[in-house]
Amino acid sequence: MKIGIIGAGHIGANAARLFVKAGHEVAIANSRGPETLEPLVEELGDNATTATVEEARDFGDIVFVSVPLKNYTDLPSDGWENKVVIDTSNYYPDRDGQIKVLDDRTTTTSELVEQQLPGARYVKGFNTIWFEHLKTQGNTDLPLEDRRAIFIAGDDSGAKEIVAKLIEEIGFAAVDTGFLHEGGILQQTDSVIYNKDLTAKEAAAILESASSASA
Ligand SMILES: NC(=O)c1ccc[n+]([C@@H]2O[C@H](COP(=O)([O-])OP(=O)(O)OC[C@H]3O[C@@H](n4cnc5c(N)ncnc54)[C@H](OP(=O)(O)O)[C@@H]3O)[C@@H](O)[C@H]2O)c1
Repeated sequence: MKIGIIGAGHIGANAARLFVKAGHEVAIANSRGPETLEPLVEELGDNATTATVEEARDFGDIVFVSVPLKNYTDLPSDGWENKVVIDTSNYYPDRDGQIKVLDDRTTTTSELVEQQLPGARYVKGFNTIWFEHLKTQGNTDLPLEDRRAIFIAGDDSGAKEIVAKLIEEIGFAAVDTGFLHEGGILQQTDSVIYNKDLTAKEAAAILESASSASA
């Protein structure tokens, strides 16, 4: 599969390494320009190329967006039709500044970013796992229930299936927190699952008890 990667920092660069290792092709973009990504692409080999943001968007069947939330409005607002997008954003006011609609809980980070990418088949994912764990904890030898969980949320079930398969190919297990609004809330920085080192089996049990407590 072809995967465009926008944001080549702690999460984007490590995701690129895992995707290439799993046999995918990647085109990687950052804010400073393709030439600054040459060392990374050289490390990754023939299945990786540098790109502008627009080139990475156009390249990918999947586009992995991993930029600080404060920069999401810099992302192009067109050209996303039918692209499966994985967005890793989290809201950290110290880094991102105060965003009123998030502070007053009118909306969620994922719904904000989704609005910036009209037509995308948007999935929130990879936002609850620390980059050092993403780098080291994937293990395709384990049965799915014993693998480290990577949570996903979204309103497009077909897109979530595609993302879940990709997550399995890199040695993790996808755990679906539900639709974008409700699941997005469950995946926020103040939630019970955020940055917790959970297997898929443990994650499912926590989500089950969270949903019975709120019923
Ligand atoms: N760090 C973690 O463990 C972790 C875990 C889960 C989720 N997250 C979330 O994932 C996102 C990325 O985190 P990170 O830690 O990987 O950040 P990071 O290390 O600071 O990297 C950010 C990347 O985004 C690029 N970027 C910034 N603005 C851009 C723009 N307008 N267009 C294209 N690229 C742009 C930067 O490019 P330049 O370097 O060229 O500026 C850099 O490559 C954040 O929302 C974060 O909260 C982080």
